[in-house]
Amino acid sequence: MADKPLSRNPETWHEATRLVHGGGLRSQYGETSEALFLTQGYVYESAEIAEARFKGQEPGFIYSRYSNPTIAMFEERMCLLEGAEAARATASGMAAVTAALMGQLKAGDHIVSARALFGSCLYVVQELLPRFGVASTLVDGTDLAQWRAAVRAETKVFFLETPTNPCLEVYDIAAIAEIAHEAGATLVVDNVFASPVLQKPLRHGADCTVYSATKHIDGQGRCLGGVILASREFIDKHIHTFLRQTGPALSPFNAWILLKSLETLRLRVAEQVRSAEKIADALSGNRNIERLIYPGRPDHPQADIVRRQMTGGGTLISFALEGGKEAAFAFSNALSIIKISNNLGDAKSIITHPATTTHQRLTQEARAALGITDGLLRLSVGLEDAEDLIADLRQALTAIDRKGLAAE
Ligand SMILES: Cc1ncc(COP(=O)(O)O)c(C=O)c1O
Repeated sequence: MADKPLSRNPETWHEATRLVHGGGLRSQYGETSEALFLTQGYVYESAEIAEARFKGQEPGFIYSRYSNPTIAMFEERMCLLEGAEAARATASGMAAVTAALMGQLKAGDHIVSARALFGSCLYVVQELLPRFGVASTLVDGTDLAQWRAAVRAETKVFFLETPTNPCLEVYDIAAIAEIAHEAGATLVVDNVFASPVLQKPLRHGADCTVYSATKHIDGQGRCLGGVILASREFIDKHIHTFLRQTGPALSPFNAWILLKSLETLRLRVAEQVRSAEKIADALSGNRNIERLIYPGRPDHPQADIVRRQMTGGGTLISFALEGGKEAAFAFSNALSIIKISNNLGDAKSIITHPATTTHQRLTQEARAALGITDGLLRLSVGLEDAEDLIADLRQALTAIDRKGLAAE
């Protein structure tokens, strides 16, 4: 549990310091690097102490499904980064999303969600929740009138991700939070694409932020993880018991990896954003690219919201190639440094063809409605030299030119 700051006055520190020292729990050995407590349980000095711990009358750890010192350090560091009162870590991003929604909802309730969601999140909203009697309505996240019109007396939760996967639409968190609150609902924001460095949804009125820590937070492709951040009241009311009793706990080993990764998160994301800006400019106007989307460019459709809500354009660029799937595959296969995979926020640059991978479960019509065309590619910009990445992308564009797949 990370409901209390564990370090001395960390609230007075700047973000970079919080990410290095925040939440540190040093053991009696005085280790420099945070310890990995690879234990499922804890020994009590007496039966009376065991009883008091279980009754919540005395602080301390009980069982690693509930919490663990390494996990507590990660949660506390995340609280300090996000400006949240409380956090709970989970085994994956999907465990975080599922708990944040199911922890609040019951049969008879209604959820309103943006249509442009990661495939597994869409499954939870559109298929899983309705199986338990929770009705769902999907809206165009950019259209505030649609959010307003979707509200019913039973609406309890609004849910969105911004920027969206993979078309990088940006939604106005403050305006949508206001509509949710007027309706007596909460707003949950999946902040995976922005990362906690570039966008802090709680500051814009969201009630709960969820992460796949698998992405930028690890940032080195090593482990799965998730985290839910909110007020202490929200966590106590909706999340605490749900997670304890259903058990999607983060492994202490993965918590340790994620905790250490936070130390470099700002540096990694800042460098990735710098490279993404250069790459977006280098690709823009290329005759083989019919559409290029990067939230950091002034031609992004929601550029004004990006300026208000984010402190950088992000580490992802999406672009649609002329020539559909054939061109997208030929282009991906011609890349050398950039790898074909489906992670994002990684140190290694990654190209993804959403129509045949992350969004292949959707019908062609559903994909078309979201702008996921057969020529669309999502590029997650890594930590390689931007000039090398630009050269790799250019030689792949030349390769599709040679194959006769290029635009006329
Ligand atoms: C926007 C978004 N939300 C949630 C998830 C789920 O995260 P995880 O794979 O850690 O369960 C992902 C994963 O790709 C994602 O892109």
